[in-house]
Amino acid sequence: MLRGVCTDMKILGISAHYHDSAAALVVDGLPVCAVQEERLSRHKNDAGFPLGAIEWCMEHAGLEPADLDAVVFYERSMRKFDRILTSALRSFPHSWRSFPEAIKNSLGEKVWARGIIASYLGVPRSRILFTGHHHAHAAAAFLTAPTERAAILTVDGVGEWSTLTVGHGERRRGGAANLRLLREIRYPHSLGLLYSAFTAYLGFNVNEDEYKVMGLAAFGRPTLADKVRRLIRRTPDGAFRLDMDYFEYQTTAARSYSQRFVELFGRPRNPYEPIDVETDEGRRFADCAASIQLVLEDTLVDIARALQQETGLSDLCLAGGVALNGLANARILTESGFTRVFVPSAPGDAGCALGAALYADRVYLKNPDREIPDHPFWGPPVDGMELARAAREDEQLVEELDDTGLIERVADALHAGRIVGWMEGAAEFGPRALGHRSILAAPHAAEMRDRLNREIKHREPFRPFAPVVPLEAADRYFDLPPNGARLGRFMSGVFPVRPQWRSRLAATTHVDGSARLQTLERGMAPRLYALLEAYGRRSGMPVLLNTSFNVAGEPIVNRALEGYSTFRRAGIDLLVAGPTVVTKRARVPAGPLSEAAA
Ligand SMILES: [Fe+2]
Repeated sequence: MLRGVCTDMKILGISAHYHDSAAALVVDGLPVCAVQEERLSRHKNDAGFPLGAIEWCMEHAGLEPADLDAVVFYERSMRKFDRILTSALRSFPHSWRSFPEAIKNSLGEKVWARGIIASYLGVPRSRILFTGHHHAHAAAAFLTAPTERAAILTVDGVGEWSTLTVGHGERRRGGAANLRLLREIRYPHSLGLLYSAFTAYLGFNVNEDEYKVMGLAAFGRPTLADKVRRLIRRTPDGAFRLDMDYFEYQTTAARSYSQRFVELFGRPRNPYEPIDVETDEGRRFADCAASIQLVLEDTLVDIARALQQETGLSDLCLAGGVALNGLANARILTESGFTRVFVPSAPGDAGCALGAALYADRVYLKNPDREIPDHPFWGPPVDGMELARAAREDEQLVEELDDTGLIERVADALHAGRIVGWMEGAAEFGPRALGHRSILAAPHAAEMRDRLNREIKHREPFRPFAPVVPLEAADRYFDLPPNGARLGRFMSGVFPVRPQWRSRLAATTHVDGSARLQTLERGMAPRLYALLEAYGRRSGMPVLLNTSFNVAGEPIVNRALEGYSTFRRAGIDLLVAGPTVVTKRARVPAGPLSEAAA
């Protein structure tokens, strides 16, 4: 029997089996660690049961499974089973072929979550709890935000049945937390799945490349918005319904949009065909992206505005995979009537591991509320000594410097146009690199963007890179609305670059003049902050390009050796971890052996 109001309670949260699996550990009401499975398994978007993440969390905290007071799974698996079964039966016989596939793809072992957790971890079944999927999203947003009262909006593809929920939360430091979801929109009516249908139509990977649609949108005009609105009808109560004739995800795992959708929008893009926005066809795809983006934003702003009017609250906590859409978040902040908008560093399903553990602690077990440190660094630490050892064995140039010397050395390199792999402390929890596992570079010239794309990221040329700027300097370079800097804390908002700076921030300014900036507070990452200052003394602008430290198709690097391996394979000139700086030796010209081999 679980009992709350107890100090030192140890709670493990797990999200698994859908997209990005993760584990998080909460001890005595505070997060101790949280990590996505992909960072350890090295399989991007690893959806498997997060054994590696759980093991690391337990080891990091020095705990055995027997020490855990509760293990919390981030959704009620039987309800999800019910949803898939019911949807399949409703569309019978159309969907009879897709049903076993749905079971295999969407559920797999998930319905047996309690048994799996009990057998993997050896904890008694009575200590295994479940939260609602959207309750976990809501808790990840509200219980980690520096606010005591807030409205809550969660929006994703689908959880068990819910695809969007609205609610509110209240907490008192040292007292109880209350989190209530008031209403929901249910599958198959889903903003996340609507956006994903367009992601698939535009030839990108669903659940992975939605941000490419957002990037492409800047090249187009929303000329097809009225057609998109035919797919999504607003209802008098402020909700929406999709016209399911345009979709197939409810009946088959093979394709998310229907033939009728194709008749409305035209031929879908072949994933292997490059997008050239100079051609009619390329412009049609860009317009399509701009149109779904506009309709998504309009719908979210309307729902958020109604929620603000209903609750009268000034703060909004936003989560679910759709909260990764920085353009929509920025419009919610400026147009919905909320004064402040908080998006956690991991608003997607990985963040549900932390949300589930916090929900169990505060709401289910009624433990006293505690203020959660306002940073994203809950992952494994990096070891500079390990990097130094590996690089010396490999005969690279290794220096070990004190903080001041290191900052000056790296600022010089950045100012000279070098690309720097920057690893520091604990890894970020969530999909963004926020200064602990980042690739940094000068943000000024478009050539730097092209070089990063060519030598490291291999991305589509239409996708922008992000800038990082000290909080205090953000307004100078970026046109931020009141409290816009808060959205920039975890790179959750897209805002205009001030026109006079766009040409000097060419590598980080998108074609429409916007940027998904990170506003860095000194206390969150002091070394990166010092580096921005040192770089500013050289260039006149304390702004750097900050992109995630990985090459195309791989997860963000985690430990020093992964950083080193990426550094060796990609066009990174300098690698930093802790006090260690490694400089790449110039490539030795090919000798006779190479010629013979050729
Ligand atoms: Fe979700």
